Amino acid sequence: MTDLRFTHDPQLRSFASDNCAGAHPEVLAAVVAANEGHLPSYGHDGYTAAFEDLVRDLFGPAATAYPVFTGTGANVVALAMMTDRWDAVICTETAHVNVDECGAPEKLAGVKLLAVPTDDGKLTPSLVESKEWLLGFEHHAQPRVVTLTQATELGTVYSVDELAALCDAAHRIGLSVHLDGARLANAAAGLGVSLGELTTAVGVDVVSLGGTKNGLLGAEAVVVLNPEAVRAPRYIRKLTTQLPSKTRFISAQLLALYGTDLWLRSAAHANAMATRLAAAVGEIPGVQVTRPVQANAVFAILDPAAAEQVRRSYPFYTWDEARGEVRWMCSFDTREQDVDAFVACVAEAANTALPLTTDGPAH
Ligand SMILES: Cc1ncc(COP(=O)(O)O)c(C=O)c1O
Repeated sequence: MTDLRFTHDPQLRSFASDNCAGAHPEVLAAVVAANEGHLPSYGHDGYTAAFEDLVRDLFGPAATAYPVFTGTGANVVALAMMTDRWDAVICTETAHVNVDECGAPEKLAGVKLLAVPTDDGKLTPSLVESKEWLLGFEHHAQPRVVTLTQATELGTVYSVDELAALCDAAHRIGLSVHLDGARLANAAAGLGVSLGELTTAVGVDVVSLGGTKNGLLGAEAVVVLNPEAVRAPRYIRKLTTQLPSKTRFISAQLLALYGTDLWLRSAAHANAMATRLAAAVGEIPGVQVTRPVQANAVFAILDPAAAEQVRRSYPFYTWDEARGEVRWMCSFDTREQDVDAFVACVAEAANTALPLTTDGPAH
């Protein structure tokens, strides 16, 4: 993994991750406002009650909300409350739960992950059904949950119909559906649909609702849509270390994002910047955009020497070392001029560094 430490330049917008952006000023203002006085702790405050109401408005009357600190925490809490000790969870090989959570779902939620390869980061009904044969045999961990990521780790987005078909397939064989929605807002903005249309309406059972990547200081929530798919959510959140004592600050952030159109404004903007970036870098000889841009991520192959040259100004991650594929992310505060300056930097590097080889990068 590339070392992304760099001297702080307040003017620089990083394309390494949407986590590199700061917090949105409206969120900071909401946190300052929530700092007034003493309030009950551990979620018994008015901000958390208001967020619980909001979640019912957005996701339907059966929805319950459990604010947590991190996206990994949300996934662990969600999967732990959806499974027993002998259960397994079907996911893609590229799923964040599989590759980027240090084994937390296995170790803390205690589930076996059944990771399936995909080209585009998306599960399909037939991939889910391919694990049906494991059911009912005591020698196999028992598939219990399908977890999918929306938008996916590869910047792709499930359509409403794809989600509905997946949920139907999972439910048909007795599995529940968890959705890692670290970037659910980007998916909804990209598709032009509501959060409920992407979740409750298609049959998702539990959502990890993202916030941090879309301008919060650090706040996410587990949203249970189907109470029958979980057990003991409050106890499980606490024992997996995700119950915030000063929950008001987590809830105030989530309220600032989802209680206004900020989630949509910010996600739509990040998506638009990614579209602008992909269109421009796609015109640069030697740069190949590798995946559809449906949210706020751009994947591209460029010569490693050119990538290194760009990194001197703009650090970013290599996604697939073998293919020389890199990932660039846009944020709620990426400006058009940031994209244009970055594109100019890539163009110069592609022009002056070693040319792209057709069968992958030269090592
Ligand atoms: C798809 C996805 N899920 C979950 C997370 C987890 O977020 P956190 O870093 O807050 O644990 C991330 C963060 O990169 C992510 O990309």
